[in-house]
Amino acid sequence: MRAMVYRGPYKIRVEEKDIPKIEHPNDAIVRVTRAAICGSDLHLYHGMMPDTRVGTTFGHEFIGVVHEVGPSVENLAVGDRVMVPFNIYCGTCYFCRKGLYSNCHNVNPNATAVGGIYGYSHTCGGYDGGQAEFVRVPLADVGPSIIPEGLHDEDALLMTDALATGYFGAQLGDIVEGDTVVVFGAGPVGLFAARSAWLMGAGRVIVVDHLDYRLQKAREFAFAETVSFTEVDDIVLELKKQTDWLGADVVIDAVGAEADGNLVQHITAAKFKLQGGSPVALNWAIDSVRKGGTISVMGAYGPLFSAVKFGDAMNKGLTIRTNQAPAKRQWPRLLEHIQAGRLTPRDIITHRIPLEHIAEGYHLFSAKLDNCIKTVITTD
Ligand SMILES: NC(=O)c1ccc[n+]([C@@H]2O[C@H](COP(=O)([O-])OP(=O)(O)OC[C@H]3O[C@@H](n4cnc5c(N)ncnc54)[C@H](O)[C@@H]3O)[C@@H](O)[C@H]2O)c1
Ligand SMILES: [Zn+2]
Ligand SMILES: [Zn+2]
Repeated sequence: MRAMVYRGPYKIRVEEKDIPKIEHPNDAIVRVTRAAICGSDLHLYHGMMPDTRVGTTFGHEFIGVVHEVGPSVENLAVGDRVMVPFNIYCGTCYFCRKGLYSNCHNVNPNATAVGGIYGYSHTCGGYDGGQAEFVRVPLADVGPSIIPEGLHDEDALLMTDALATGYFGAQLGDIVEGDTVVVFGAGPVGLFAARSAWLMGAGRVIVVDHLDYRLQKAREFAFAETVSFTEVDDIVLELKKQTDWLGADVVIDAVGAEADGNLVQHITAAKFKLQGGSPVALNWAIDSVRKGGTISVMGAYGPLFSAVKFGDAMNKGLTIRTNQAPAKRQWPRLLEHIQAGRLTPRDIITHRIPLEHIAEGYHLFSAKLDNCIKTVITTD
């Protein structure tokens, strides 16, 4: 089969690999029909994620058709069209029973914090991902769902990560009717978080980024007010000014470890890897939320410590909530929203690129060229 293969930072190839085999009775092999490149893949692409091994295949946002099932699989049959959440989890451990699918205790011998994620380094379990023609789906009775009749393939694809994560980000903000919600980052996760905030009763939604084409998308797709942090002297002061000098009720960090906006933070984190990530957006969130407010962190940070202004968070009485999204938990409600016509997730897709040219997809997305927001990889 053809598969995306990691050859080192900024080096993506498409190579021939063996079609994965059933390794456990509850495995399925899925023929991938659509995959996407996620902002999280960029952390791998840039060499930020520990134990990202040469030769592995990325891709944790994908849908496909069941090609083969192991002997104990009961919920899926060959030929089923399935959407597969980005998390790999057992469904029965202490954490899974609490709905913390991204923190499953049984699927990742290499870390205790995080569970399993497809194609996301050996730190996240060492599973190959779905930017390939075929992928092994472990615990096939637990994660995947059959794509409901009438759901567009690209909408189903986005439910497996970006949409579910954005929605989860808004949920963790504990938005109360009328709240002012600030979202840092106008990538797919930020756009979906901003759009979801309205569904949860926000009174105002403000999106911050520095890429004008993405801010324009935030206005059009997420009906948000926007601020470019490079066009104001001090983004925190600007946000305070816009929120009666009290600060926002809820701030969502949809930027994560590679945030721009502070050279020292960026160099110590992205270049020298002295931090688990550059916490620029997170520190701006701490500074721009009101006292007693809530910060929801969807942006991903690595295992090392980061220079987070924790004292300010403490003294302001903030609630900080965060996790890798347990994607499937959001599906029932998201389906209702999509089927009721309140949301068309695929509106954010800007590029559709054949697997053979995936390296170009990574480059466009990483360098934010050609107004790229979300790239879908096609395999047919
Ligand atoms: N928690 C989860 O389950 C989960 C799931 C998916 C993605 N993520 C993470 O969410 C983050 C966003 O993902 P994405 O796909 O939207 O990525 P993306 O790279 O498309 O978007 C990030 C955006 O942040 C902007 N940005 C950079 N520095 C900023 C700053 N200081 N303030 C405001 N905006 C800034 C960039 O210009 C970009 O538009 C990534 O860190 C990704 O790893 C987490
Ligand atoms: Zn992702
Ligand atoms: Zn579990």
